[in-house]
Amino acid sequence: MSNDNFKFKAVEIEGKKYLVLCQSSEIYEGKGKKFQFGEEFEKQLAVFRYKGELFAVYNICPHRHIDKIHNGILKDGFVMCPEHGWTYSLSTGENKFQKQGKKGLKKFVVFEQNGYVYIEEPNFDIPKWKIEPLNPEHND
Ligand code: FES
Repeated sequence: MSNDNFKFKAVEIEGKKYLVLCQSSEIYEGKGKKFQFGEEFEKQLAVFRYKGELFAVYNICPHRHIDKIHNGILKDGFVMCPEHGWTYSLSTGENKFQKQGKKGLKKFVVFEQNGYVYIEEPNFDIPKWKIEPLNPEHND
């Protein structure tokens, strides 16, 4: 069994698998919160409450691969990375300024019900260069 998502309880809602992320009261208006889903650096996301609505995006900025999106500044439906200002749409994850780069943030389905926040089971993309070879002892 994998260690992924070990901290979060899995539930099924209308035939789909979700994880119980936290209590609704833990996500403050106008703020982001980081969630880590495993030991690997890549397995983290940021959840925001903006104008009462929840949004979940990948927490690692594609500019310099820094995990600070959760500390970003929210404005007009966008989150601005606190490091160098790359700016992403909360609703689509797209980069607002294509001159900065075409890479956006992956989005995740998030919602709240009965005082709890639920998220679709995240599927994180691990960079290919980090994937272990199948047989590291094989030196051909
Ligand atoms: S690391 Fe986010 S803008 Fe540079």
